Amino acid sequence: MDKVTISVIKADIGGYVGHSSSHPDILKRAEDNLIQARDKGLLIDFKVMRCGDDLELIMTHEKGEDSSAIHKLAWDTFIDCTELAKKMKLYGAGQDILSDAFSGNVKGMGPGVAEMEIEERKSEPIIVFMADKTSPGAWNFPIYKIFADPFNTAGLVIDPSLHGGFKFEVLDIYKQETVIFSAPEEIYDLLVFIGAKEHYIIRRVWRKSDGAIASVSSTQKLALIAGKYVGKDDPVLIVRSQSGFPAVGEVLEGFAFPYMVAGWMRGSHHGPFMPVSFRDANPTRFDGPPRVIGAGFQLSNGKLIGPRDMFDDPSFDHTRRMADEIADYMRRHGPFEPHRLPLGDMEYTTLPEVRKKLEGRFKKE
Ligand code: F6R
Ligand code: MG
Ligand code: MG
Repeated sequence: MDKVTISVIKADIGGYVGHSSSHPDILKRAEDNLIQARDKGLLIDFKVMRCGDDLELIMTHEKGEDSSAIHKLAWDTFIDCTELAKKMKLYGAGQDILSDAFSGNVKGMGPGVAEMEIEERKSEPIIVFMADKTSPGAWNFPIYKIFADPFNTAGLVIDPSLHGGFKFEVLDIYKQETVIFSAPEEIYDLLVFIGAKEHYIIRRVWRKSDGAIASVSSTQKLALIAGKYVGKDDPVLIVRSQSGFPAVGEVLEGFAFPYMVAGWMRGSHHGPFMPVSFRDANPTRFDGPPRVIGAGFQLSNGKLIGPRDMFDDPSFDHTRRMADEIADYMRRHGPFEPHRLPLGDMEYTTLPEVRKKLEGRFKKE
């Protein structure tokens, strides 16, 4: 086989209960759709998963990135599942379906997309990370740790096949411009931007020695697409590992610190990013804290051997405990920053209305 494409396309098409999780009947319906596509030969393989209230379609095929056939399959599947969600009166049915008509590509229509076309290696371990109750900027920190920080990834220092470093493509989501940085030489420049994670998002990473793609994230910002709040983006990320890429353990180590991400309740709060097992991906406390799961696969001629539940490991218990402590600490700030997001980043606000109501009461100093 020549090249294989991994497409991860996701959408929140309805929650059970509230925004906390997904109903098994919805997953079953999505699976039925994708089985048909596989039987017709459109897909090589697929896995239907969920993280919180997000329906995740992990698909392999030979159609390349941005294939309208694959995007249409995902779109039609989301529409079909939305119909069922509406029938069941699941919460926020069709939440991420922002358009009525499909026009060849799901980008900009609500769903999140991460795709990579690769030449499958002799052995191809990949990890698909899926998050709920946060935005795509949530990946900046772990991607930096994994591909640029020698205190995280020992291979950057001691493995000749990683020692050359990686290139980072950063997207300015407000200007819709991209810029590429080379690490390690330009890490200070890179960090100036990616530290502002709600503005600059790492989209792709390549290995410098041969230009091989190493990771791809989804970068849709639903709030910007819709011009109003329609739910946090709840992003996905695909990472290749081993033999010239960071080892599986170096990739996972990037999530060992529960750093602060934007999202959580009403997409308007900072909270710790908590790595959990598949079964624990149900944000409940204050609709959170934000969760991430890691689904590990060995690709075998495009077949997805897996998933392995990568955070289902007691060595992440401490991270989770720390996340709970941070959650407590942050919650006690109530409506104050930095728990509540800065005014411009909140997905919900009453500010314009309240300001208008009080118009005559503001006096010039
Ligand atoms: C955050 C999220 C939830 C909702 C919250 C209020 O991404 O999905 O925290 O914002 O449950 O939801 P509504 O406005 O639907 O009642
Ligand atoms: Mg939802
Ligand atoms: Mg969600």
